[in-house]
Amino acid sequence: MSVIVVQGYYPLKGEVEIQGSKNAVLPMMAAAILHKGTTVLKHVPMIQDVFCMMGILESMGCVCRFCDHTLTVDAGELTCTGVSKERGRAMRSSIIVLGALLGRCGEADVYYPGGCSIGSRPIDLHLAALRQMGAVIREEGEALRACTRGLKGTDITLSYPSVGATENVILAAVRASGITVLRGAAREPEIDALCRMLSSMGVRIGGIGTSVLKIQGTKDLADAEYQVPGDRIVAGTYLSAVIAAGGEALLRNASPGQLACVLNIMREMGARIAVSGDAVRISMDGRPRAVSIETSPYPGFPTDLQSMALVLLSVGRGKGYLKETVFEGRFATAKELHKMGAEIIIEGTEACVTGKGFLKGAGVRACDLRGGAALAVAGLAAEGETRITDCGHIVRGYEDICGDLQHLGGIIRREL
Ligand code: UD1
Repeated sequence: MSVIVVQGYYPLKGEVEIQGSKNAVLPMMAAAILHKGTTVLKHVPMIQDVFCMMGILESMGCVCRFCDHTLTVDAGELTCTGVSKERGRAMRSSIIVLGALLGRCGEADVYYPGGCSIGSRPIDLHLAALRQMGAVIREEGEALRACTRGLKGTDITLSYPSVGATENVILAAVRASGITVLRGAAREPEIDALCRMLSSMGVRIGGIGTSVLKIQGTKDLADAEYQVPGDRIVAGTYLSAVIAAGGEALLRNASPGQLACVLNIMREMGARIAVSGDAVRISMDGRPRAVSIETSPYPGFPTDLQSMALVLLSVGRGKGYLKETVFEGRFATAKELHKMGAEIIIEGTEACVTGKGFLKGAGVRACDLRGGAALAVAGLAAEGETRITDCGHIVRGYEDICGDLQHLGGIIRREL
């Protein structure tokens, strides 16, 4: 999928089922490595990052079957404890297999990961924590050669609640001897989901949902089946589409409990939102009100919805402010929005957006996964046609963004 074409300025109306969460399923797939048996994941999104992680698991000797959104991973026999440079660079989450491989096999050869270009994405916290657990890690250029005579549970404090570092420590701790206490852990719902999945495999984890996790190492893991939760960022994307274009929609499996901060901001912008179980009903008349938003780790406003927020402030009325505190390079989409008539002034990590009430269709480029999706949202709110190129980024995380937005009444299609 290289080009998405959107005809905008029509209000939306419809219903959509939200896909399984990308950021939840990837560490769960890495967790399957820990178990000499079978792990079944349900409601798995059919996205590029999942296919990429499947490739990584298969290259290690895992047998994967992916059918009808159910992924079965048999990690009975591992034949390789490394990830090739090409596979490692293809996605950020490739680094998550480091902790799992060290735990299961005592060695791992991986590469500095790739992924979206949204800022420098170091892994110093991952490496420091794993070293504290007894891993010896040599960095040779982009390659990382890790080994251990056995990981040991210990007391670790993360200086920043990195999602990936938290996942790596949890996965390493599962097979370490003794108890690992992780302080300053990320509290993102995807960490919760990983802990609950591991619990269903027989791992004892205390403090789930808090910033202090206690993981009891074990060799006794059981076959398990786990349902991947709905993707809160995809839900946030489609809610943003309704606010930008106006209209009404029902989103099912939208994990509203994980979107509390986002829903509050959207209400402040003027959206009417009702939650019922896992469903969210939204309606919007008129232009969004200008607000101030600051991204931060969960439970704050997610950095992954920052580009959508730029769109909403751009089609709104008045001056809105947005501060990015997680990834410094995440304002790349602003340059594309300028082509659509947006007035965004960026100084360092802060953006001042003067809402004009409308955008104009234009030719734009998807700079990263969420930025690309935000341009589709902008296109739905813009007068005329918007053509988004480089849409390969979007399929990394959205199973069928055009189909979903069509369900909501959007005039959007992809051109191959
Ligand atoms: C994950 C998500 C991503 C989301 C991000 C923050 C996945 C696959 N990706 O990315 O969608 O935007 O969380 O919610 O789940 N940092 C360091 N050193 C480290 C690790 C991180 O300095 O060792 C910094 C990063 O540069 C960044 C911040 O910490 O500024 C957040 O990164 P982190 O929470 O680790 O994000 P990811 O796990 O990469």
